[in-house]
Order: sequence, then C-alpha cells, then structure tokens
Amino acid sequence: MVARTIPVETFDLVIFGGTGDLARRKILPSLFRRMREGQMPTDARIIACARGKMSRKAFQQMIREALEEFIPNDTDRPEDLVGTFLKALDFVTLDVMGTQGWDDLAGKLRDDAIRAFYLSVGPGLFGAIASKLSETGLATPESRIVVEKPLGHDYTSACELNRQLSASFDEHQIYRIDHYLGKETVQNLMALRFANALFEPLWNAQHIDHVQITVAESIGVEGRGGYYDKSGAMRDMVQNHIMQLLCLTAMEPPARFEPDAVRDEKLKVIRALDPVTSEETVRGQYRANGEGGYLDHVENPDSRTESYVALKVQISNWRWAGTPFYVRTGKKLRSRMSEIAVIFKEVPHSIFPEVSQRKGNALIIRLQPDEGITLRMTIKDPGPGGMRLREVPLDMSFADALADAGAVPDAYERLVMDVIRGNQTLFMRGDEVEAAWAWTDAILATWDDSGDRPHPYDPGGSGPEDALALLHRDGRRWREVET
Ligand code: NDP
Ligand code: BG6
Repeated sequence: MVARTIPVETFDLVIFGGTGDLARRKILPSLFRRMREGQMPTDARIIACARGKMSRKAFQQMIREALEEFIPNDTDRPEDLVGTFLKALDFVTLDVMGTQGWDDLAGKLRDDAIRAFYLSVGPGLFGAIASKLSETGLATPESRIVVEKPLGHDYTSACELNRQLSASFDEHQIYRIDHYLGKETVQNLMALRFANALFEPLWNAQHIDHVQITVAESIGVEGRGGYYDKSGAMRDMVQNHIMQLLCLTAMEPPARFEPDAVRDEKLKVIRALDPVTSEETVRGQYRANGEGGYLDHVENPDSRTESYVALKVQISNWRWAGTPFYVRTGKKLRSRMSEIAVIFKEVPHSIFPEVSQRKGNALIIRLQPDEGITLRMTIKDPGPGGMRLREVPLDMSFADALADAGAVPDAYERLVMDVIRGNQTLFMRGDEVEAAWAWTDAILATWDDSGDRPHPYDPGGSGPEDALALLHRDGRRWREVET
C-alpha cells in the first residue's frame, strides 16, 4: 500500500519572517517534501518577506542551504526537484511596520490562486500585519492567515490577539497552529477512538482508572533561555500541546470529522476541567549536575520558572468524573518520550485469588519516538505448575505495520497543506485558545500566590521526587520515563 497523495490547488504562500528559523527549519523543508511527494503543484509560489535586504537569488541560495541542513540525506533531495522548488521561491524586502514593499508584494500575487499568509514572526507583529493586509486589499475574503504559538501569554493577551486578528479576518480564515495536532500519531488517536468499536464502550470512568499523559524531553533550554524563562513548561507545553492531547483523549465523539464538530467537542472538555489546586501541581527546575543547570541558561539567576510540571487534572462531566488525568512534561529528563497511557480498572472480581497484586489492562499510545500502540494484557504463564499469570504487551509499531506507507510526514507538511486545502480541523479555534488560557491562568496564579520555588531535579532523571508523591498518595504510580 502506497500513501495516497492528492495534489492541492495552486497557491501563493506569503511567509512573513521567511528568513527566520521556523521558516528555514520547518516550513520550507516541509513544502519541499510535499512537492517531492507530488502534493504541492510546481506552479505554486512561495514569497518570503523580511526586513533584511536580499535578492531573490540570495534567498534561493539560503533555502538551498537550509534544505541541505534539514533534509541531510542526498537521496531525499534530488537536484532536479531542488531546482524546481527554488524556482517557486521569491523574496520581498518589507518591514511589516512600514509602508514600503507592500506594492511590490501585491505585484507578485495572482488573483486566481489560493492565497495564504503565514506569520512566522513574533506575535507582537500579528495585529499590525493583519490590519495592513486588510488595508492594502491583499487579504481577500477567501485568503487564509496562519499564526503560531505563543498565542498570548495569558487569557487577556490571548483575547486581545484574537480581537486583532478578527478585526481583519473571519474565523474561517484564521489557522492557529499547534504542531502537535499535525503529528500523525495524534491524529491516529482520533482514528483509534472513533474508527474502532472496541474501545469506545470502555472509554469512561466506569472502566478507566486513570490516564497519564507524558511529554518528556531530553533537551534543556539551551539557546532559548530568553524566551523560555518568560514562559515555563506550563505556558510552553501544557496550555497548548498537552491540552490538545487531553482534549482528543477525553472528548465526546464528534458527529462528523469536520472542523467545528471536532472543535466544539474539544472546547466542552476544556470548559469541564476543574480548577487545579496547588496540592495537585508539582513544579520542577533542573539543576546543574556535571553540566549546566536551568539557571545557567537564563539571565535571571533567581528564576522561579518551571522546566517541569506535573498536574492532576479532573474533568467534571458524566464520562470522566472520578477518573483523574495525570499530565507531566519536562526538559532534561532521561529521554525524549511522549505517550498517552490509558490505565483500565482491574477486573471486578478475581477468580484467581492466589495471584496477588495485578494491574489492570493498559492502552499505551506512543507519540514519539517509535510511534505505535501497545495493549497490556494478562495471560497465563505457559507450562504446568498451576495457574500463574503474567503481563504481556500486544505491541504494534507503526513503522513496522505501515512500512510500505513511506516515512511519517512532519507535522508541518500536513498542516501547511491543510491550510491550502482550507481544512481547519487540525487548527485551534479562538474560543478554544481563550478557554485553555483561562484554566491555565488560574494555576499560574496559585503558584504566584504561594511564592514557592520549583523543586530541583537532576538532569537525566524522571523529574522531581514530589511528582512521584502526586500519584503515590492516590495509590498509583507514574509509568517509567524510558529510553
Ligand atoms: P526568528 O527570529 O528566527 O525569525 C524572525 C523572522 O522575522 C526573520 O525572518 C526576520 O527577518 C523577520 N522579521 C522580524 N521583524 C520583522 C518586521 N518588522 N518585518 C518583517 N519581517 C520581520 O524567529 P523564528 O523563526 O524562530 O520564530 C518566528 C515565530 O514563530 C515566533 O513567534 C516564534 O515564537 C514562533 N515559533 C517558532 C518556532 C521555531 O521552531 N523557531 C516554533 C514555534 C513557534 P528580518 O530581521 O530580516 O526582518
Ligand atoms: C515547542 C516548545 O512548541 O514544542 C518546545 O516550544 C518543545 O519547548 C517543542 O521542545 C516540542 O515539540 P516536539 O515536536 O519536539 O515534541
């Protein structure tokens, strides 16, 4: 089975900030891969804008080098295709806060192509760009605008950002990226839940003891200390990526796989989240231990910003009341590993009384690395000698099961093509972002009120000791952060 690729219609994609890190590392290599797979038409145009003066040729050379760096394998980058891709690129020198360059940009856009504006610049420029696109008439009723985190720093700033965008664009034109939604395994979570009859009848508090969502990273904040120290794990990961994982795990089945049907259900989950008390949160900050600690990478030597957070989250609705969702994420942990673990309750009555402590079934959805699904089952230990039980994994690695479907595409490949297709299902709606911030703000406020410092933890471990206690006192334990 070979992956089916449906080409999109031709488009003009304007990337404000087209010479920046995000454009060079993610957006343009993803577009190249889509052209290689036959999805991006060869007559599509990509127009980068930035303040720096640069010729079209120099920009093309910059992107040639970016492709070499971020798609390192020569065989993945056939020279003829690189040439075709570079021909699609153009560059306009333009300060989005100024008046020069906009006519030049207008002259490069076609009336009969899909038009999308990707704002790959700091969020402080989003409002100015949106209103300029509207004033200059470059934004048509069908054009799309793409923005990316940070979508606000708190509820108030997120509302202000939404207000600025919606002053010039309708909600159906606004594509708010959370790159986790573009990950193949995250989409697979919806397929697993809603395309299989097996799990849905069990997917509730009656059968599920608890859920653990883990996004562990082995990297630290090196090189990003300036941004990260103003953000912390709660704003950087929980408010957006982990919230999306939680919503997709907990939401009711939408009536259709359509943007608002899916987003309505996610929003209902966020609105049903209980406020989290300070006893239900643990913050950590990695210390120096043979290598630089968190404080060595940020300006403020007394920073209280968390590089780790664990929370016990309760959802007050009929499906989930009484079944906690424990979530955790952190930098400088033992390994890079993200998973959603659904831990089922034990059987109501054991007919094997001599077998002591057993665990319930568990369904593990591995997001990265080695994407796949494992179902933990209890079976009889083979051989004579009585009824001994043991746990075994029913393990499916997507790489093995879907080997003939080709490489798993990067999240940006899927998301940028969805922008062109006009499909908002995997993008966040404004009210969803605001609701997520309202819930997050309350947690941040409890931390501010307490004045406590984050708990130190050793790099290369599984986070602060107190995070273990968060589950221990409920008679549960975290799954190992494994390599
Ligand atoms: P960079 O600083 O690397 O790039 C910023 C780009 O914006 C440059 O091309 C810069 O070029 C251009 N720019 C800055 N000011 C203006 C202006 N006034 N007018 C026109 N162009 C301007 O940032 P990143 O690429 O890393 O990030 C861009 C945005 O994406 C940020 O909001 C970031 O938070 C977000 N993001 C980034 C991720 C990443 O992996 N890098 C991941 C997720 C989100 P010049 O200076 O020549 O104008
Ligand atoms: C980004 C965060 O949004 O997601 C980073 O700003 C984090 O701090 C990254 O490292 C994780 O993404 P991924 O795709 O590597 O899991």
